[in-house]
Amino acid sequence: MTVGFRLAHRALCWLCTLVALFAVPVHAAPAVFKDDMAQRTQACTTCHGAQGRAGPDGYYPRIAGKPADYLYAQLLHFRDGRRTYAPMAHLLEPLNDDYLRDMARHFAALSVPYAAPVPVPVSAEALKRGQQLAQHGDPARQLPACTQCHGAALTGVLPATPGLLGLPRDYLNAQLGAWRNGLRRAHAPDCMADIAQRLSQADVSAVSGWLASQPVPAHTQPAPANGQPLPLDCGHPGVSVKTTQTGGQP
Ligand code: HEC
Ligand code: HEC
Repeated sequence: MTVGFRLAHRALCWLCTLVALFAVPVHAAPAVFKDDMAQRTQACTTCHGAQGRAGPDGYYPRIAGKPADYLYAQLLHFRDGRRTYAPMAHLLEPLNDDYLRDMARHFAALSVPYAAPVPVPVSAEALKRGQQLAQHGDPARQLPACTQCHGAALTGVLPATPGLLGLPRDYLNAQLGAWRNGLRRAHAPDCMADIAQRLSQADVSAVSGWLASQPVPAHTQPAPANGQPLPLDCGHPGVSVKTTQTGGQP
């Protein structure tokens, strides 16, 4: 609540702040406020960790280094109700599209180290099933391999498919669960909703467990778009950080 108010205030009233600074008597030594990215994203890093590397609680996801179009789409999803997490929706509600695009670009450009994976308490059998699903899918359930869309190294594919490594198991379980029960939605056709429906509960647990226990490869960047047709159609938000960028920054 306080954090949300602070950020909203900064977004909307930096001009007022500037005016206020001039109005303060010189001996009052006002705190200097700079509307730079460090200030804008301070509230974000209290949950998402320094530079968006992931929160300390084993749930708040990493956002650093994910594709800019993906991050931007998620900020719109939270702000506009296609994803549900009240503190973020509250924080983003007063922010306009340009502001969200700038933040997406900022976090996408950060190349910062990943923590080593923590041991995951799942059976060897479940890990094997998880690896099978991630790398080969399951024709019997009409499940494509996760790697077909998320990249051979699972570090994501430009322009808007995120990587699946370096995320906590609880977060992965929660996202697949949210797609299964309609609490998380992406633009139609929502391929991840189809995939999540085709996974059994045990499969969700197996694939999340395997993904969360993998070390992140040395090259962590998303792969370039390869033009290959996807095994299922996935909607795109129809907006791009690069092509609709108006911020005038490189
Ligand atoms: C109160 C803690 C909190 C704050 C503050 C916060 N976030 Fe989040 N954020 C979360 C949680 C928790 C999730 C995952 C929610 C879910 O389960 O879907 C999330 C998800 C995200 C995602 C989606 C990540 C993905 O891989 O899909 C993005 C992007 C994001 N946050 C960006 C931001 C930005 C930018 C800010 C600052 C303006 C911010 N967050 C502030 C807690 C927070
Ligand atoms: C047909 C392509 C496709 C396949 C196959 C696919 N995904 Fe995805 N996945 C996507 C797209 C596109 C997104 C981004 C959706 C959005 O914009 O919210 C996504 C997002 C996700 C996310 C959210 C990541 C985050 O940071 O919040 C998870 C988790 C996920 N996929 C897991 C999986 C798993 C596990 C598999 C294999 C069982 C899989 N996906 C297979 C296309 C695919």
